[in-house]
Amino acid sequence: MPKMTVRDIDVKGKRVLVRVDFNVPLDEKTGAITDDNRIRAALPTIKYLIGHGAKVILISHLGRPKGKVVAGMSLGVAARRLSEVLRQPVAMALDCVGPGVENMVAAMKPGDVIMLENLRFHTEEETGDASFAQSLARLGDVLVNDAFGAAHRAHASVSVIADYLPAVAGFLMEKEVANLSKMLQSPARPFAALLGGAKISDKVSMLENIMGKVDYVMVGGGMAATFLKARAYEVGQSLLEEDMLATAGRLMKMAQKEKVNLMLPADVAVADEISREAQVKVFPADKIPKDKRIVDIGPQTIADFSLELKKCRTIFWNGPMGIFEIPRFARGTQELAKLLAKLEAMTVIGGGSTAEAVIEMGLAGKMAFVSTGGGASLEFLSGAKLPGVEALQDRK
Ligand code: 3PG
Repeated sequence: MPKMTVRDIDVKGKRVLVRVDFNVPLDEKTGAITDDNRIRAALPTIKYLIGHGAKVILISHLGRPKGKVVAGMSLGVAARRLSEVLRQPVAMALDCVGPGVENMVAAMKPGDVIMLENLRFHTEEETGDASFAQSLARLGDVLVNDAFGAAHRAHASVSVIADYLPAVAGFLMEKEVANLSKMLQSPARPFAALLGGAKISDKVSMLENIMGKVDYVMVGGGMAATFLKARAYEVGQSLLEEDMLATAGRLMKMAQKEKVNLMLPADVAVADEISREAQVKVFPADKIPKDKRIVDIGPQTIADFSLELKKCRTIFWNGPMGIFEIPRFARGTQELAKLLAKLEAMTVIGGGSTAEAVIEMGLAGKMAFVSTGGGASLEFLSGAKLPGVEALQDRK
């Protein structure tokens, strides 16, 4: 990447602000971390900085507290987990700016690690406020941005801060950009995009950008309903994006023009309700009963997608094939995850719930790359410039 990284700077004795994305999923009832992958993914950078005598000041957001202090969104839980995996104390600050934090930083020794409180407890983080960014910048001599997952947000700690402090990439940021760029610029063909999840709306720009580069687009998950409806199929009670029907039609035409094999489910698993006890039945995609809703792709679709995926040398997967949190609706997601884990292809898992599913199944290590950025990886693949990447210093 033509951007400077942590390797290019001298960090010894320096106060290094590290923007991480510790926006980890928490258990609704207990508040415990259910997947610490984003914390583990930042370890190479944090360990490198400790090893090179830096004072490590971690900054992150967690959830969407909208400018208010929300106890359940404190980063204390992440600091504790980091301390466990790092096997060294990680002091937790009560805020992310102000005299208390400045005193804490002033008392740091090389190799110390502190975690500042949730940036989004201040509205100024999301509005990209310049004086808030300056207050953060005062805490460090340099910014290392390792928060690929938040790189698509033009927030104070992501991009604005780089006006006041030299910013370089951490190892995770470097790895994410390198893997996704490689897939976008020089994918081994055939190349398939396997797409699911609830909505088309957040994938339109990405689909438009990759249409000329991929050989297949395979559509499952909730978003399949909108495509099926655009083909004038009955989709019963399935989640539908009415305002995206014309877009779905346009994308199908675009695929035809670009000679992309856009595959929709041949059959679907349906249920009356979204519950653990729901009875699941399989119907051909053109015979979905009016009173049922799609909850997964069907066995024929799993077989159809699998047959083509086996021919591919690059596969990008974003979005589960059904409501995989409910075991009865998880078959499509699980079967395709298992298949991808066995293939020799460059398998790239877009972050978010797809990454969660693969990690939960213990298959992450069998994929070529699992991104930590859900929204960020989609934006990157849409060809957009990410503010967090743009703000990094160019390598001379
Ligand atoms: C994510 O989880 O995708 C990132 O942490 C960004 O979070 P956001 O969508 O709340 O900005």
